[in-house]
Amino acid sequence: MKRIRKAIFPVAGLGTRFLPATKATPKEMLPIVDKPLIQFAVEEAIEAGLTDMIFVTGRTKRAIEDHFDKAYELETELAAKNKHDLLELVQSVLPRGIKCVYIRQAEPLGLGHAVGCARDVVDDEPFAVILADDLIDGRPGALKQMVDCAHRHNGSVLGVEDVPRERTRQYGIVSTTPVADRTERVSAIIEKPAPAEAPSTLAVVGRYILSPRIFDLIEHVVPGAGGEIQLTDAISALLDEEPVFAHRFAGTRYDCGSKLGYLKAAVDLGRKHHEIGAEFDAFLKELPK
Ligand code: G1P
Repeated sequence: MKRIRKAIFPVAGLGTRFLPATKATPKEMLPIVDKPLIQFAVEEAIEAGLTDMIFVTGRTKRAIEDHFDKAYELETELAAKNKHDLLELVQSVLPRGIKCVYIRQAEPLGLGHAVGCARDVVDDEPFAVILADDLIDGRPGALKQMVDCAHRHNGSVLGVEDVPRERTRQYGIVSTTPVADRTERVSAIIEKPAPAEAPSTLAVVGRYILSPRIFDLIEHVVPGAGGEIQLTDAISALLDEEPVFAHRFAGTRYDCGSKLGYLKAAVDLGRKHHEIGAEFDAFLKELPK
């Protein structure tokens, strides 16, 4: 398999579950303590060795472009005030050698459509898709584990974890046969099945490494679950042509697309925060039960 260099971040969604916070701010810019969700996602991609960050954006998402851009006034001001630590922090948001590309998805036609919007930029090489809503705390990061898996087994890889059966309606669910430790071969995938119809409880959680063949298949996908062009349906077609693996990454995943998941991430990662972690932990321990 060719080297994986490019990551697609579909960030055009409206984030209605976080209104009114997301009325004028992209949901991907919601912070966990002091770092926006999208930055966690980009750092995970960089750690996995990827260099080209492709954001599929929409209206009201300008803050994401600004976040990964140079901030001249702020940087000049911090330099003038000798605030070197903060200056370094601001400049490290986008390390040297990392490229950002922004593509507009004019209509919210689904995840498959969003990925298809990046076709011309990705071209003929395998690539990653990261959904910033799914924050994964892993060492090494989940995407790095998946890139290793893709090279080892020479195929596309989906990041998966077991979910409670009553939740299958929220996910793409796979049927698999074991291949190696944490890795299984996918034989079927279905988008958001009812609990009684789900072939398993193994869910795809916002991390994909895909062969470029997927782009042709996306073009033939008809609207599926929720009337959307589903990436899951294109992956289902890919199964007939190429090997696709499910990798049970090591790490804790937070569903930051839900209020409860977001709050859990904030509390867990807040307790580990280098600056305020210890004090926050002490505060939590003193809270009345
Ligand atoms: C999307 C995918 C689904 C996947 C999920 C992971 O659904 O369509 O297959 O399991 O992300 O978070 P969404 O959460 O956008 O409805």
